[in-house]
Formats: sequence, structure tokens, C-alpha cells
Amino acid sequence: MAEPVKKGLEGIVVAESRTSLVNGQEGKLVYQGYPIETLAENALFEEVVFLLWNERLPNRAELENLRSAIAQGAVLPQGIIDQMKTYPKNSNPMAVLRTVVSALAFYDPDSEDNGVEANRRKAIRLTGQITTACAAWNRIRKGQEPVGPRADLNLAQNFVYMLEGKGPDQTASDAINVYLVLLAEHGMNASTFASRVTVATGSDMHSGIVSGIGTLKGPSHGGANAEAMNMFLEIGDPSNVANWFKTNIKEGDRRIMGIGHRIYKALDPRAAILEEHARLLAESSGNLKWFQIAKQLADTARADSYFIERKLYPNVDYYSAIVLYTLNIDVDMFTPLFAMSRVAGWSAHVMEQFANNRLIRPDVTYTGPMDLPWVPVDQR
Ligand code: ACO
Repeated sequence: MAEPVKKGLEGIVVAESRTSLVNGQEGKLVYQGYPIETLAENALFEEVVFLLWNERLPNRAELENLRSAIAQGAVLPQGIIDQMKTYPKNSNPMAVLRTVVSALAFYDPDSEDNGVEANRRKAIRLTGQITTACAAWNRIRKGQEPVGPRADLNLAQNFVYMLEGKGPDQTASDAINVYLVLLAEHGMNASTFASRVTVATGSDMHSGIVSGIGTLKGPSHGGANAEAMNMFLEIGDPSNVANWFKTNIKEGDRRIMGIGHRIYKALDPRAAILEEHARLLAESSGNLKWFQIAKQLADTARADSYFIERKLYPNVDYYSAIVLYTLNIDVDMFTPLFAMSRVAGWSAHVMEQFANNRLIRPDVTYTGPMDLPWVPVDQR
């Protein structure tokens, strides 16, 4: 008798992990014992990175060492910059990031070393380099020279500085920091699983992170933040929400991007925090329109029996779209920003996998034909 198929691996536990707890029934997220609300309010992204990699918060000297190592390791080799300048300017930024991270392995002195210390050094460099690559690509594709990282800034500040070539603006870098903290880690999500599957074969950190980036790109996962914003732009005005919902969701077969989650059957706690940040940023920018569209659409969905019965709530991508749009980030850069943060979680899981490895290799139930006779090619 064949085993029952668990399509989408739903409910299958594939590892023990100390990195984070996702409680989907109660809408709780905890990194290494700290509730996400506490971290979003207090932590620098680098503090969260340290926490995920060391299972405890850093003291002041440890935090400064990590901040400085990430900032210094964030420099891209000139060969990478030269190569990026040859890419088609209309390339998908996630495809660019996937290629850049793969190519960074050529320049990394530890690329083929899977030892504990080498993995730590690679995780530090990749955490900085992914941010630099995101900012650099956004400039290169607009015909601007990329701006390198500053050794005195934290990652969120460096991103804003490298993106704009000035500043960094404090409000923008504070908002980016919160965003980075909230998205750094999330249990056995699809991209983290992909990273772990990759390194479980004895492959390497860069390959694992490339798998994570390729997986995050999809609209059912990290790609949903850009799709959510495109949906809000399509709606265009709060007065169009009711009609858009009726035509596209109730009478059509579309999904509301940024709503629904495999694990959360209550409000994603990150969405609650991001909703508040989106509102505050929208108010201070003087343009509340996009926040109002998002809020009205979420309220409309949450009052609808279809969404109530299926326990569909806004997820992390829903209000983060408004936060990033209000900060003037290009919509197709939203998912690369997700990767800028999630590299912390991916690398934590890669190191955890290496520390207690076993090849990840599920099975399938074969449903094809059997014992077919061979027919020569010109008789088929
Ligand atoms: N809008 C409308 N209906 C939805 C939505 C949505 N956003 N999400 C799920 N549903 C419905 C499905 O149609 C299905 O209905 P049915 O039971 O009548 O067939 C039911 O809810 C369950 O949906 P599944 O796709 O089976 O749930 P699954 O756990 O596989 O999917 C997913 C989760 C992919 C996130 C889904 O909710 C979705 O497509 N959401 C929109 C994309 C999105 O926001 N993705 C980001 C997730 S967060 C992250 O990855 C960072």
C-alpha cells in the first residue's frame, strides 16, 4: 500500500530548529525566545542576525564587531560590478540577485569550505553583499554609478545610502531596519527549506542562498509583496475597492496578494506591526491613499464569509508593500529587499543543517505505466 501523499508537504516536520517558532493558530512569531514585537521595537537588524547565528543577543562589543564586519564585507568585487553593468537593464532584480550571489562564490576565499568558521565568514559577507547588490542594481539599471558601502553605517543605513548616494535619511533607514528585523527568519518556509535541501547534499553556503533566492522569487512566497503593490496600484483609489473586490475576487478567480498563509490561521503578527508602520509613514508622507486602499481591501476581505471560513488574513507581504512604496522603493525591488533580510535566516538554517546533517530526500508515489514494450523510433 502506497503512503498517502502529503501534497505541498503540509504538516510534515522535517527538522528540529532553534531559530524561530511560528505559531500559526495564535499568530505568534518568536526568534530564539524573543517575541517579534519586542525585536521590532528595540532591535537593530545586526542584533537579530547575531541572535539567529548565536542563540543569544550580543553585548555592545559583539554587536559593534558584527555591524562592522558586515559593513566591511559588503563591498562587491569589481568583477561583479563590471558583470552587472553588462546585464540587460530590464532584467528581473531577483534574477539579477540570484546570478550575483552565484557569481560571488567565484571571488569568495571560503567558497568550497563548509567548516563552521568558513560558513560564519561567508554568512557575514553575503549578508552585506546582498544589500550592496540590491542597491547597486537599482542604480546600474538607471544608468547611475553604484555607490559602495560605508564602514561606519549599519545595514539599513547603508542600504538607504547606497540606493540614494546620499544621506542616509534617518526615517527611511529606521523603517528599513524594522522591515529587516521582521523578515529575517520564519521557520521552515519554502525558501529556507530549499536552502536546507541544497546544503544537505554537502553543497555549499552560496548554493544554499541561491536556492533560497530562487524560491523566494515566486508570487506565492516573497514575490507577493510586489504583486500586492501592483494590485493596490491597479485598484487606484479607495472608492474602487468594493467594485474591484466584487469583480476580481467574488465573481473572478483572482487571489488577494498578501493575504493567506500556509501556517498562519490568525493574523500574521508581522502584518499587525507593519500595518502600524505603514499608517505612520503614510501620514507623515501626506499621501494616505495607498494605505487606505490596503486597509479597506483587508477589511472587506475580513468581513467576507469566504475569507472568514478559510481563516485568510493579511500576511507579512501585504502592508510591507505600502511601507516600501511610501519609502519610494521601486516595486520590483520589494522582493530583493525581502532577500536582504532573509539571508540572515537562510544562513542560520544552513549552519544548523551542516551541524546536524542528513540528506533530505522525500519520496513520490509512482502513477505512471509499467512494462511497456520498446517500439523502435521510426515505428512510433
Ligand atoms: N485570496 C483568495 N483566496 C485565497 C487566498 C487569497 N489570497 N489564499 C488562499 N485562498 C483560498 C484558496 O483558494 C483555497 O480555497 P479552497 O479551499 O476553496 O480551494 C483556500 O484559501 C486555501 O488555499 P491554498 O492555496 O490551498 O493554501 P496554501 O496553504 O497552499 O497557500 C498561500 C498559501 C500560497 C500563501 C495562499 O494563501 C496565497 O496564494 N496567498 C496569496 C499570495 C501570498 O500572499 N503569498 C505570500 C505568503 S507569505 C510569504 O511567503 C512570505
